[in-house]
Amino acid sequence: MKVHHVLFAAALSLNMTAALAQDAHAHEPGHDGRIVLALTPDERAMILDEMRLFLDGVQKMTGALGQQDMPAVADAARGLGQKMAHAVPPALRAKLPAEFRQLGFSVHRDFDQIALDAGSMQDVSYSLTQLSATLQKCVSCHAMYQIQTPAFSARH
Ligand code: HEC
Repeated sequence: MKVHHVLFAAALSLNMTAALAQDAHAHEPGHDGRIVLALTPDERAMILDEMRLFLDGVQKMTGALGQQDMPAVADAARGLGQKMAHAVPPALRAKLPAEFRQLGFSVHRDFDQIALDAGSMQDVSYSLTQLSATLQKCVSCHAMYQIQTPAFSARH
């Protein structure tokens, strides 16, 4: 009976080690030192789609700021706010580190704030300062993470 217990405990701890090793593998550093998010091609495409929307919105905002067109600044910023953050499928959500998700949420929240302030303050340089602080979050996330599709590459 006692032997069974020990074996069971050993099997459990092996499982735990395997699970921990797998988790570490999912977020191991890539060749350039950034943390690798191991995703499926569809998950990668979903994230990169959102990223291109970010860049598109930022381009619109800077254009509108140059024209001092504050309603257009507010519109472009609002488009990148919380309403853009669509529901993340649970399988993808589970693969994204908490810091990654928090950084993403905080960028969406920033854009909502920029939209509100652009409307109420009508101050180009204030909006630019806010935009610069938000772009710093884009920079931080890109410095920290990269996406790879290992299962897909292994098959090709
Ligand atoms: C929470 C993390 C995170 C934030 C915040 C973030 N990005 Fe990204 N972005 C990524 C990752 C990860 C990639 C893929 C990088 C890789 O695999 O090398 C990416 C890729 C991109 C790409 C490339 C898209 C493509 O089709 O290849 C663009 C453009 C981009 N981001 C723009 C932005 C802009 C602009 C912001 C801020 C307004 C932003 N991102 C904020 C994580 C983030």
